[in-house]
Amino acid sequence: MRVAMIGTGYVGLVSGACFSDFGHDVVCVDKDAGKIERLLNGVMPIYEPGLDTLVEKNVKAGRLSFTTDLKEAVPGCDAVFIAVGTPSRRGDGHADLSYVYAAAEEIAHAIDGYTVVVTKSTVPVGTGTEVSEVIKKARPDFVEGEHFSVASNPEFLREGAAINDFKRPDRVVVGTEDEKAVHVMRELYRPLFLNETPILFTSRSTSELIKYAANAFLATKITFINEMADLCEKVGADVQQVAKGIGLDGRIGSKFLHAGPGYGGSCFPKDTLALTKTAQDYGSPVRIVDAVVEANDLRKKSMAGRVIEAMGGSASGKTVAILGLTFKPNTDDMRDSPAIDIVNMLKDAGATIRAHDPEGMEEAEKLLGSEKITYCEGPYEAMDGADAAVIVTEWDAYRALDLTRVKELLSAPVLIDLRNVYRPEMMTEAGFRYRSIGRG
Ligand code: UDX
Repeated sequence: MRVAMIGTGYVGLVSGACFSDFGHDVVCVDKDAGKIERLLNGVMPIYEPGLDTLVEKNVKAGRLSFTTDLKEAVPGCDAVFIAVGTPSRRGDGHADLSYVYAAAEEIAHAIDGYTVVVTKSTVPVGTGTEVSEVIKKARPDFVEGEHFSVASNPEFLREGAAINDFKRPDRVVVGTEDEKAVHVMRELYRPLFLNETPILFTSRSTSELIKYAANAFLATKITFINEMADLCEKVGADVQQVAKGIGLDGRIGSKFLHAGPGYGGSCFPKDTLALTKTAQDYGSPVRIVDAVVEANDLRKKSMAGRVIEAMGGSASGKTVAILGLTFKPNTDDMRDSPAIDIVNMLKDAGATIRAHDPEGMEEAEKLLGSEKITYCEGPYEAMDGADAAVIVTEWDAYRALDLTRVKELLSAPVLIDLRNVYRPEMMTEAGFRYRSIGRG
């Protein structure tokens, strides 16, 4: 099969590289000439484990190429994926679909034979229909089902594990009821038949909603356990055991029950908000997701208060070591990371920050600036002379810290562990004033 992937952001690049690794001919397109230039030189625009070798391998095999020229990439393709960004629109929280529609129009003009146009970007219910309208408007001679079809094919990739998630997914969801399109999509995902991955064919709007429902459900699970964690602290219970105790019930499941500083990233915050907006528009509010959005925002904002409390009630003139800036480990992504609120609020309260992150410091500096923040080479350097250390992201580098050295470096032995990486008894024994999440 021949595939064009429009947009070489996180989703487009990973999906394009993986489809080429399945044996398809893939051309990845992006308007950003600098990005394409770097990709042609083997430089990845994002940090994702294994991506560089996957790209190199498939470029060498002649199955994967990069270009800025959409008009050249689209003709002859069986499927063209739209994988451009759908950020939250400023002001109203709706997904901004202008990039999706602009891509659809350009694709329409370039199509030269039956092509399936697939939305991979996360798009609200009804967008597939809009995409189809855009194509028909650009090419009034086109008949849907004969010259083109529009399918929805949401991604469920986790940053840091995206390649594995693409190649060994729990399921693939394809939204189209057109037989020709079903055939093309089946062929594209044929390599997954080997490991019997369920491929769910649904209507377009069902598929679009599945993506939002999945992310909102996961965000709800996290928020639920985060609120349980707060309650655990008040009643002297242990949230890790609560999570285990409920997670062993097959109806609940053990995943996504790890309490922390609140979810972040490029998907959950944006998608939960967009879902609430769509639901409001249709007069069918999803109150539980409204509550999740609000609770998570409040949670992220409350984390700095915990740090200040652990330092004795004031941050004024204090230095705080922040370990981990990205929204989760194994990514350089800072989008909606809890670290943003924590750092800004600590600074506002008069603290100076010494920060470290294994991959995210460049992105962090762009977002947080460098006023009152020193970006440090390693975790120990960050903790040198600090009044407290805060683990914000559970990178492996912070999982086995030399506690004797940490105690010597810190001016007070205060460690706030927002990811429950360490055991409280062990930390107390080692002489720390240790605060974690939801453990008594
Ligand atoms: C998510 C979805 O998992 C993926 O299916 C979708 O396509 C895109 O959004 P991602 O944003 O990469 O993927 O990260 P994920 O691993 O899901 O974590 C999201 C956030 O939730 C992170 O901030 C993480 O730290 C937090 N989280 C996750 C918790 O606080 N507790 C958990 O138990 C799990």
